[in-house]
Amino acid sequence: MKHTDIKDILNGQYTGQKVTVCGWVRTSRNSKTMAFMALNDGTSLSHLQIVVDKASGIAYEDAMPLGTSLKVEGTVVTGQNGTPEINAECITVLGVCPPEYPLQKKRHTLEFLRTMPHLRGRTNTFNAVMRVRSVLASAIHQYFQERNYVYVNTPLITGSDCEGAGEMFQVTTIGYAPDGTYKDADSYYAADFFGKRAGLSVSGQLEGEVAAMAMGKIYTFGPSFRAENSNTPKHLAEFWHVEPEIAFAELPDVIEIAEDMLKHVIRTVLDTCKEEMAFFDQHFEKGLVERLEELISHDFAVCDYTEAIRLLKESGEDFQYPVEWGCDLQTEHERYISEKMFRRATFVTNYPKEIKSFYMKLNPDGKTVAAVDLLVPGVGEIIGGSEREADYDKLVAAMQARGMNMIPYADYLDLRRFGSVPHGGFGLGFERLIMYVTGVSNIRDVILFPRAAGSIR
Ligand code: 4AD
Ligand code: MG
Repeated sequence: MKHTDIKDILNGQYTGQKVTVCGWVRTSRNSKTMAFMALNDGTSLSHLQIVVDKASGIAYEDAMPLGTSLKVEGTVVTGQNGTPEINAECITVLGVCPPEYPLQKKRHTLEFLRTMPHLRGRTNTFNAVMRVRSVLASAIHQYFQERNYVYVNTPLITGSDCEGAGEMFQVTTIGYAPDGTYKDADSYYAADFFGKRAGLSVSGQLEGEVAAMAMGKIYTFGPSFRAENSNTPKHLAEFWHVEPEIAFAELPDVIEIAEDMLKHVIRTVLDTCKEEMAFFDQHFEKGLVERLEELISHDFAVCDYTEAIRLLKESGEDFQYPVEWGCDLQTEHERYISEKMFRRATFVTNYPKEIKSFYMKLNPDGKTVAAVDLLVPGVGEIIGGSEREADYDKLVAAMQARGMNMIPYADYLDLRRFGSVPHGGFGLGFERLIMYVTGVSNIRDVILFPRAAGSIR
């Protein structure tokens, strides 16, 4: 169906010309002699006004109900407010839309819209979120591609739990086994599709390290799955994960890349999505654009975990979870650090080894590992990363201390036997980045179909 994008018409490229446009009616109104419809085709946050002169004899009544899809032929003229609009010459109703269409004019709450994931994309909010999401994804690829990183695709079905936190969804074709069919777990898994226990990957990092040991600099950008039973505004069971892995890099290099990458992608969104960002600034977080401009024009803060604990204890703040050296930082602590202590994006480094994963490089103090989390105001952690343990014996010791089964990690350990190098990387939660950039405060509202504990559609 040959037609012109509404975005291009609104940009003024077609003024004076005859065009065909397609879209859905967002609002409509009638005057004595004229009818008006605001049409949206998804290419722009703004609608295109269709003007019908009733004296022309064009059948317009069926084209008025909200949600109706139309094809309109007409001439692009400049409207009274200076914006291009269409003087309609022919209107074809492609699909009617009855009055029970749930997205009638008034503003709907995000909770209400969550009950109709198949329709909510047609609201201004989701139109803007999805475009920012798309521009961010493209900017991430651009950042790494321009710097000699290789984009690799790591497997989604895996035999090892990367983070070791037991949050893996199981992949099986057997399903429910009646008592007595299998004598133990091993014989059950032996009969399963892969002949051993398999699950959905929580992170592509371990395979990403394999690729980095061959190609130097790599990144992945794909889904990760976590069976965390946490019903919070920042956890999904299926989220998109950006994971660069860099050979010949130590923790300060990892931090520098994370900061530089974030600044690049936020700059790109501010430049490319001006209209969408103005919308979020107005409706979701007053001062959002200024906050992001501020963020990318300053260095992020860096704070040692031990120092962060000292400052949290001295803060006098009444936290729900008490703070002690050795504790994992809760969202309330993370937000306090970035919102009150440093008032900007803050890297917290060198966590106690007990609360971090087995693969992180042990620091000379023997107590902490070269880990880094990036905490941002409003959201908390959006990045988790580290320098990896590149020493074979130390890595084996860390795995033994955790009582891990070495067999599934034989390939991973081989990387430390054959030309091991200092290396590191990080994981960025893509939806958390979108939350931070748009000011939308629930992660379920920045992905087309959210999957969370107890909820799938
Ligand atoms: O901190 P995490 O668990 O780190 C890793 O997975 C490392 N293997 C990454 C690496 O070094 N390559 O997860 C990284 C990020 C978190 O900071 C968070 O932004 C996001 O992934 N994330 C989630 N996002 C949405 N829903 C969830 N359930 C998430 N779990 C982690
Ligand atoms: Mg983490």
